[in-house]
Amino acid sequence: TWKMSSFVDNMVAHLRENIGDRRVLCALSGGVDSSVAAVLVHKAVGKQLTCIFVDHGLLRKNEGDEVEAIFKKQFDINLIRVNAEERFLTKLAGVSDPEQKRKIIGAEFIRVFEEEAKKIGSVDYLVQGTIYPDVIESGPGNAAVIKSHHNVGGLPDNVDFKQIIEPLRILFKDEVRAAGTELGIPENLVWRQPFPGPGLAIRVIGEITKEKLDLLRDADAIFREEVAAAGLGRSINQYFAALTNMRSVGVMGDERTYDYAIALRAVTTTDFMTADWAQIPYPVLEKISNRIINEVRHVNRVLYDITSKPPATIEYE
Ligand code: XMP
Repeated sequence: TWKMSSFVDNMVAHLRENIGDRRVLCALSGGVDSSVAAVLVHKAVGKQLTCIFVDHGLLRKNEGDEVEAIFKKQFDINLIRVNAEERFLTKLAGVSDPEQKRKIIGAEFIRVFEEEAKKIGSVDYLVQGTIYPDVIESGPGNAAVIKSHHNVGGLPDNVDFKQIIEPLRILFKDEVRAAGTELGIPENLVWRQPFPGPGLAIRVIGEITKEKLDLLRDADAIFREEVAAAGLGRSINQYFAALTNMRSVGVMGDERTYDYAIALRAVTTTDFMTADWAQIPYPVLEKISNRIINEVRHVNRVLYDITSKPPATIEYE
């Protein structure tokens, strides 16, 4: 839209003027907000921006490669992808408590980010994908896009930078998407559904292993593919597969099996505080179930979650 193109032009000019020839660092998650923020800053200062993408090995199928392709190949952004799967899985081995998982992942994430940032040396700015609803949540303060860094929570302590850049501070989510489209970010990223920071770690219920993650990735990819193929991708606000911590008896050919159950979760919601389970048509569910059973080894049962929030949360952990 005209409005969005003028926002983008004004913001790029503002950033270029204020950043000058200084250096900028960005923690890229592959989510909508950090992606749009990064592309905006890149448009303003190009190679003065370096993005660090910590791949914790808990991403969805092909997600790491997709992020790398978009930012490196399409936009030619300085992107450092850190393959930290082994580090995270080692730290998570044997851990089954949901909050413990979150803590371990959060702490390790900061550690990996700081290590990479140190290799780059001192930078002047850190980009954050803060959007207007986040600003309201934490008290409005002022609307400044660039502000000094007073070590507020959630930011790395050992990274040397003086100021924070938040180019999306005045935008709502739909405006962030419009800005992303304006900037030429692919539709599937701009319309990406929310994905939790701890990733698939909180969708493998209980202990995490590489085998369970791979199996979940395959089942989840089938689910998302079929929802999209049925044209339901935008009307369902969040949908994903989870690996239950349950194995049960089944029969495959003449063989008795004792394998995992996959749970399918799909919700409609406006604010993610409350949500209704999505009424996916039976024929679509039938196809998804058949495909998961036939294509994913060690899954012999597919369950559809018909619980709203509250009382259930959207995620399982
Ligand atoms: P729940 O499960 O609380 O989820 O109903 C509400 C929304 O928040 C997302 N979520 C998270 N996002 N880190 C995140 O960045 C987390 O630890 C986390 N837990 C839940 C969830 O995907 C849903 O969109």
